[in-house]
Amino acid sequence: MVQNVASVMPELEPEDFHLLSGVEQGMRFSEYVNREKLTEFSRLSAENVDYRLDRCEDRELVERKTIQYEGFKLTFEGYDALALHTFVERDTIEGFGAPLGVGKESDVYEVQSYKPMALKYHREGYTNFREVMRERDYTSDRDHVSWLYTARKAAEREYEALETLYPDVSVPQPIDTNRHAIVMEKVDGVELSRTGLEPEQVVPILELILDEMQTAYEEGFVHADMSEYNVFVTTQGVVVFDWPQAVPTDHENARDLLRRDVDNIVSYFQRKYPAEVGDVDVDAVAEALATESFDSLSEHTD
Ligand SMILES: Nc1ncnc2c1ncn2[C@@H]1O[C@H](COP(=O)(O)OP(=O)(O)O)[C@@H](O)[C@H]1O
Ligand SMILES: [Mg+2]
Repeated sequence: MVQNVASVMPELEPEDFHLLSGVEQGMRFSEYVNREKLTEFSRLSAENVDYRLDRCEDRELVERKTIQYEGFKLTFEGYDALALHTFVERDTIEGFGAPLGVGKESDVYEVQSYKPMALKYHREGYTNFREVMRERDYTSDRDHVSWLYTARKAAEREYEALETLYPDVSVPQPIDTNRHAIVMEKVDGVELSRTGLEPEQVVPILELILDEMQTAYEEGFVHADMSEYNVFVTTQGVVVFDWPQAVPTDHENARDLLRRDVDNIVSYFQRKYPAEVGDVDVDAVAEALATESFDSLSEHTD
């Protein structure tokens, strides 16, 4: 598990961040950055590099290996510290709060700004990366797979989808992004998977979700990871979140992914509320969503 870096932030000095960003730069070329290169990457003296490396290693922000040469890489905590530092410098964030959720591929925390926000650190590449490393000779840099890159790309894709879709689609308002992290509006709601809907709410809520999917499609995106875990039910309606896998509608698999999304969400409702949701023609619903002609579920049920 990746530790919360917020508690070490107050101890870090500006030059510690120079060192961390030096390691980050070096990681574009190799998984472990040679200590000797760090003076150049961080623009610190050799003594200062040594001093900062020890401080950062003590706080588990960097990891050392000494095999062919003495090298260092950022840990996820180190990468988190860099992103968090940037948000603080830009005045995006003023304070750090409690965890909001630990997902498969992210850690989400409440942060304080002019109002409470959610900070999501992407972790894509983390688990895969460890599997990859088990199978490989890890002294080799040849197939250097960078989790930094994977996680950063995921954040970029999610932020782009949020920026395109907000506010026409009910998604968290995007506020800022840096590296593998995004800051967005904090949603006050309950995950669909944890709600027990009243019988009369069931079909209207499902229709609201399908409506959001239709608008997202119109605006150019298929969510592609639609499930009861990625929808909040709020007092206002629904909010669809977790968009890093979103696929543009001109992608060759877009229609298949849309159908799969519809199937996932409809199947969940059918399992949980069989009396309210009967047989649904999933193909017809997906077709209607893609052609902007979805109106109500009853048109597509037996
Ligand atoms: N904007 C938000 N406001 C409040 N809680 C959030 C927000 N975004 C995510 N969360 C919480 O964090 C958890 C993980 O976020 P999610 O975006 O689904 O990432 P993952 O890809 O790891 O599933 C969610 O299940 C939810 O409880
Ligand atoms: Mg999720």
